[in-house]
Amino acid sequence: MHLLIPAAGSGKRMKAGKNKLLIKLKGESILYWTLKSVFESKEINWVGIIGQPNDKDKIMNSIKDFSQKINWIEGGKTRQESVKNGLNGLPSNASKVLIHDGARCLIQPNLIDKCCYELRDSEAVVLAVKVTDTIKIVNKDQYIENTPDRDNLWAAQTPQGFSVDKLKKAHESAIRNNWTVTDDASLFEMLNLPVKIVEGNTLNIKITSPLDLKIADLLINNY
Ligand code: CTP
Ligand code: MG
Repeated sequence: MHLLIPAAGSGKRMKAGKNKLLIKLKGESILYWTLKSVFESKEINWVGIIGQPNDKDKIMNSIKDFSQKINWIEGGKTRQESVKNGLNGLPSNASKVLIHDGARCLIQPNLIDKCCYELRDSEAVVLAVKVTDTIKIVNKDQYIENTPDRDNLWAAQTPQGFSVDKLKKAHESAIRNNWTVTDDASLFEMLNLPVKIVEGNTLNIKITSPLDLKIADLLINNY
């Protein structure tokens, strides 16, 4: 299975003044830990990192031995653009692909494999967990409009997996229609294509804020 890692962000919410994926946890970069899990997966045999040209040397140095095994693809201004570039950087024999955010460094290899198995029989899969908070739909004036039934609410994570042709076409539709999305499954939904949920776990946090970094630091040091 082919896997693409969006790593071309700037980490504004982390306020570290650099790409947050270069921040170290237990002596190694966040991206190193992500790759460690990816290479422990039994199913992944091709990995592309999508990054900003300015970060290339720093990223390559921070991922040590893995740098020999990865393919470098230039990222774009948004995650959406970065993934689109990533798809164009896949080898022509890639029929299915997993996308996994560099910022989810606590992903467990067996969950990557689970997504791969599920993707064999589907066109699109998303790792997700049931939400535990009660979620409110709120209007512009900050009044609650309604409370969706929590049994139907899942928080989407990555990996997300797709048939390459369909995802490429979805990204082209997005450009034609000016759709902006924060994950790839959203594009499938907008095209009314089915997306299967694969149940994951809450360990797989996305490192976004300084608090997430503290949590990840605790978890990684207690593995
Ligand atoms: N990403 C990317 N290209 C971009 C923006 C984001 O490849 N132009 C990647 C990030 O590197 C990250 C993943 O998409 O691994 C999820 O994005 P997010 O958590 O939002 O990271 P950043 O965009 O770096 O953070 P922020 O939004 O706080 O600036
Ligand atoms: Mg972002």
